[in-house]
Amino acid sequence: MTIIRFIREGLDIQCKPGENLRELVIREKLQLYGLKGILGNCSGVGQCSTCFVSVEGGNKNSLSPITSVEEEKLKNRPENWRLACQTLIKSSAVILTKPQSPPSNLDELKKISENKKLPR
Ligand code: FES
Repeated sequence: MTIIRFIREGLDIQCKPGENLRELVIREKLQLYGLKGILGNCSGVGQCSTCFVSVEGGNKNSLSPITSVEEEKLKNRPENWRLACQTLIKSSAVILTKPQSPPSNLDELKKISENKKLPR
């Protein structure tokens, strides 16, 4: 069973390997975009840099490798950030949506997540 754990929302969402992370977030009606992305985004073609997520757990192969688009768009961003629209799910992972505006209790949310086993 593949699970994406969304630590901001406190949700474990079951998905299929190969699913696109942006499409999963939208399907589950979670908020992917900050204000800039809400006002306008590229609908997942890797051009707007508004679908940031950070990878907070899982193994290093949980998600597809960084694409050339992400290498360009994430140049000055933390190493664990991805563009959700460019990311395919391979196995269970822990994700923070909108890492550009992290919740004030992020450390607490991470600890809660770490205490729950993540299926592979
Ligand atoms: S939705 Fe525009 S870069 Fe991902």
